[in-house]
Amino acid sequence: MNHNTINNTIAFVKEQLKNAEGGHDWFHIERVYKNTLLIAKTENCDLEIVSLGALLHDIADSKFYNGDEQVGPRVATRFLKSENVKDEVINHVVKIIENISFKGGKEKQTFASVELNVVQDADRLDAIGAVGIARAFNYGGFKNRAMYNPEIAPNLNMTKEEYKKSTAPTINHFYEKLLLLKNKMNTKTGKQIANQRHQFMELYLEQFYKECEGNL
Ligand code: ADP
Ligand code: NI
Repeated sequence: MNHNTINNTIAFVKEQLKNAEGGHDWFHIERVYKNTLLIAKTENCDLEIVSLGALLHDIADSKFYNGDEQVGPRVATRFLKSENVKDEVINHVVKIIENISFKGGKEKQTFASVELNVVQDADRLDAIGAVGIARAFNYGGFKNRAMYNPEIAPNLNMTKEEYKKSTAPTINHFYEKLLLLKNKMNTKTGKQIANQRHQFMELYLEQFYKECEGNL
């Protein structure tokens, strides 16, 4: 693996994301990159591909480009070509960027690889645990959602689509996404870390409700 390429990619991503919002800033990428390297230790995968995939996975958020999902792959391809990365590696990295947010549902996933599994797990880990909680409230604040409304119990059965359209408080996001992620992990190491972070979220919610009820 060419360490120069990795260092240049880090510098490029930091620069690209210097004005990014809190949930998808350089430090999100850095956490995903670190967890990618950790998970990669116990998977039989290509280190260059997972590293570049982790570093470039949120290089252009389609939310800011009228939902155009091809911007990220395009920016990544142009950059990697300028670094003389092999086409075979570029193609795989692009597949990771295109498929990392795959949620299941109606469409069929057309690409699968160990490398995608590794980076996807690392990205999912950043949505749970202490950091995941912080990201959720940060996002909810951005959307002007209430944190929690003690007069309305969270709807435990709301789907992601229903929640998006609703004005439900951020606490609901735990039930429609965060608490479901531990069962979606691909790798052994990813599952282990997710279990620990999941327990922390359960504890967090318990304490949160107690504090809201005035029981603590
Ligand atoms: P990803 O980075 O995996 O593409 P998103 O862009 O959907 O995920 O979300 C980024 C972060 O914001 C995640 O931590 C996610 O849990 C959080 N988030 C997304 N949607 C909501 C929401 N409706 N309420 C609270 N947090 C959210
Ligand atoms: Ni991400």
